[in-house]
Amino acid sequence: MPTSRRSLLIAFLTLPLIAARTRAFAQAGPELPLTPECRDGDEFTLEREAGPFFKPNSPRNRELQADAIGGDRMTVAGFVLDKRCRPLAGSLVEIWHADENGHYDSVGFRLRGHQFTDAQGRWWFNTIVPARYPGRTRHFHFKVQRPGGRVLTTQLYFPGEPGNAGDGLFHETLLLDMKQTGDGRFGRFDFVV
Ligand SMILES: [Fe+2]
Repeated sequence: MPTSRRSLLIAFLTLPLIAARTRAFAQAGPELPLTPECRDGDEFTLEREAGPFFKPNSPRNRELQADAIGGDRMTVAGFVLDKRCRPLAGSLVEIWHADENGHYDSVGFRLRGHQFTDAQGRWWFNTIVPARYPGRTRHFHFKVQRPGGRVLTTQLYFPGEPGNAGDGLFHETLLLDMKQTGDGRFGRFDFVV
């Protein structure tokens, strides 16, 4: 039976409780192994420009897939961490992206939303795969802000996209960890702020 986005999301929301603890204690002593995701001295997530389509005051909403009925379904999820791999609860995570035709909604708030990370520092959106548009490879836009911290503006990219190499904003450290599921895709990325 093919994996579903929901089953991967549930796996993310349950198993990583242990991983989160491992991350939290990763710096507690040199004898403790670091998780593969938590390399000692992780760098801050790279900044990328917001571009012309950011719009403030997005709704608090993580269920965006109904905004684009014709789009290929995708769940995107991850942690917000500090540089010592400690999960940051209550962090703002805001997404905006193009629809299945490569268009942004500049009138309303289709495919725009924000949320705050849970007690384990986790966030997720159920949305669609954005289409490419002229001059850009496939991408999501994000703003991330830990409580009381500065705002990180960045973009996340898709592995295996022919347009990545020719896009001056692309960077491999901003690639989603992507899994194909029976009902779409599941992309994982942990922000370090
Ligand atoms: Fe864009």
